[in-house]
Amino acid sequence: MAMVCVSDFEAYAKKYLPKIAWDFFAAGADDCSTRDENILAYKRIRFRPRMLRDVSMMDIRTKLLGTEISFPVGIAPTGFHQLAWPDGEKSTARAAKAMNTCYIASTYSTCTLEEISAAAPGSLRWFQLYIHRNRAVSQQLVQRAEALGFQGLVLTADLPYTGKRRDDVRNGFRLPPHMKLKNLEGAFEVCKMSPLDPSVTWNDIYWLRSLTHLPIIIKGILTKEDAELAVRHGVQGIIVSNHGGRQLDGGPATIDALVEVVEAVQGRVEVYLDGGIRKGSDVLKALALGAKCVFIGRPALWGLAYKGEEGLQEVLRILQDEFRLSMALAGCASVSEIGRHLVQFSKL
Ligand code: FNR
Repeated sequence: MAMVCVSDFEAYAKKYLPKIAWDFFAAGADDCSTRDENILAYKRIRFRPRMLRDVSMMDIRTKLLGTEISFPVGIAPTGFHQLAWPDGEKSTARAAKAMNTCYIASTYSTCTLEEISAAAPGSLRWFQLYIHRNRAVSQQLVQRAEALGFQGLVLTADLPYTGKRRDDVRNGFRLPPHMKLKNLEGAFEVCKMSPLDPSVTWNDIYWLRSLTHLPIIIKGILTKEDAELAVRHGVQGIIVSNHGGRQLDGGPATIDALVEVVEAVQGRVEVYLDGGIRKGSDVLKALALGAKCVFIGRPALWGLAYKGEEGLQEVLRILQDEFRLSMALAGCASVSEIGRHLVQFSKL
């Protein structure tokens, strides 16, 4: 089967993954309206392409907090990669390194942070944190990540509780016994309730700041009010995200929320986006509306499910090629030429 676009990997994953794993990856909260809106919203945005602008030499590189990446698509944090491929997050880290982009490793990884680092030494990696009720567990994770050379700390802010994902409830989803949340081993047994702390507030950014020198990026921001608070609390980056529609159903598509966040931030920190990126032209739309970079969640899992590291590289390469082509057809030879002028919102 020729893999031509990201949807081909989705179709493959749906066909070949065990149903319980497919359902877990695909799940959105409640009736999945926000999950689906993340994708539909791109279709309402049209380009205003410019012509005759010499696109013979294309430069699609960008920088994340000063570190160069080969193109503006990174890998969002998602849990349980061994459900997609036996080598799990080690394969993810290798693919990200091979494509010279950023991989955000989840607290809920099925490989240890040490294994992930060793699989792709010297590559750009950020660590995503869920704050644990037992703060010592989170403190230890943050400090381990920093010591291992992770270069950013991503605090996920939109999960005080896990959203209601109907298929996971129906399937009684749990990790197969041979897979473990390797970075939290031991930490779960002491908690009867969810181990994540629902009492987290903005003040905890100061607590994190006291633990680490790493730049802090906050993930899950959807409003100008929270964007302003994030800047005031000293974060270095914001990821506009609704967790792939897995948390509060009925919230905005991330590409729609991006505009108000970018306007509020006024360039004071970098703004990124995830949710619904399936084509290179989606990346171009997000950059035109002010994102510095986007991240992919499910498409990375589909790539892993197809052929592990190689499959994920293929997904990234397809997005890279499509992004380059979309840029050229819109009249941009370098990422710095992408701007708000490039898009219009459809009146339909
Ligand atoms: C996620 N996401 C997520 N986010 C996070 O901060 N920590 C995590 O462990 C996870 N785990 C996770 C598992 C699965 C299966 C999915 C689909 C998503 C959310 C993720 O980082 C990202 O916000 C979305 O996946 C982006 O949407 P797309 O690209 O999947 O449409």
